[in-house]
Amino acid sequence: MARIVGGITTSHVPAIGGAIAKGLQNDPYWKPFFDGFVPVRQWLSEVKPDVAVVFYNDHGLNFFLDKMPTFAVGAAPEYRNADEGWGIPTLAPLAGHQALSWHVIESLVNEEFDPVSCQEMLVDHAVSLPMALLWPDQKCPVKAIPVCINTVQAPLPSAKRCFKLGQAVARAVQSWQGDETVVMIGTGGLSHQLDGERAGFINKPFDLEFMRSLIENPMWATQYSTYELVEKSGTQGIELLMWLATRAALPGQVTQLHTNYHIPISNTAAGLMLMVNQG
Ligand code: DHB
Ligand code: FE
Repeated sequence: MARIVGGITTSHVPAIGGAIAKGLQNDPYWKPFFDGFVPVRQWLSEVKPDVAVVFYNDHGLNFFLDKMPTFAVGAAPEYRNADEGWGIPTLAPLAGHQALSWHVIESLVNEEFDPVSCQEMLVDHAVSLPMALLWPDQKCPVKAIPVCINTVQAPLPSAKRCFKLGQAVARAVQSWQGDETVVMIGTGGLSHQLDGERAGFINKPFDLEFMRSLIENPMWATQYSTYELVEKSGTQGIELLMWLATRAALPGQVTQLHTNYHIPISNTAAGLMLMVNQG
């Protein structure tokens, strides 16, 4: 049986790609952000997971507004990154795990979720940058299963639904016959708003309460509608749905091994959590 070993949640700002390319990790602006990843990398080098399920939101690279799935799961042999127009280098393709992807898709459909299955899938900065932060040599040792959640075009799935999706993904992984170890990764958030009247909006008290809730009361955020979550965290802060799905995908007793929170990176409150589960 495959085993879930923990969860990592992080922000995914495109400017990180520029900072990596220019080697700015020790620059005063970037240091408090990059330093946060050191203990997470240490944990990964000890635990050595085989597979990463990556909950993320596409920003218009693979899905555009003309066709917008609520949930989509990758079932591709590899996932290429491509130019999104941010002026950052594209990163190396990630290997997929097609057999486990199909098992996850089948299991989700059996549980009355209706994901789009993607045998070809480009992945944007929401996947490529977290992987580059976690495995900086760009030789990512895990096979990826991208799970895309729509946060860009209304109607968005509710926090409650994303929580249930995470739980269903966990059941799918745990019912896989292989003996792989699996890390859950969620990318996006925390509070930020890139446009409109509230551009630059950040809500530190809400972010900190949300991070705390993932350990102490994981369903806390599910009391809110997506509109209420946008009000509290910004139009792009709603990407916190990925953190919720990731937390929900951790079975058993969950403890926090590491956390970092830094304002701002670009327009974003950058958060990071490493959670481990027993069971
Ligand atoms: C920024 C943050 C994001 O989550 C994103 O997808 C794009 C840009 C930013 O703060 O610049
Ligand atoms: Fe984003």
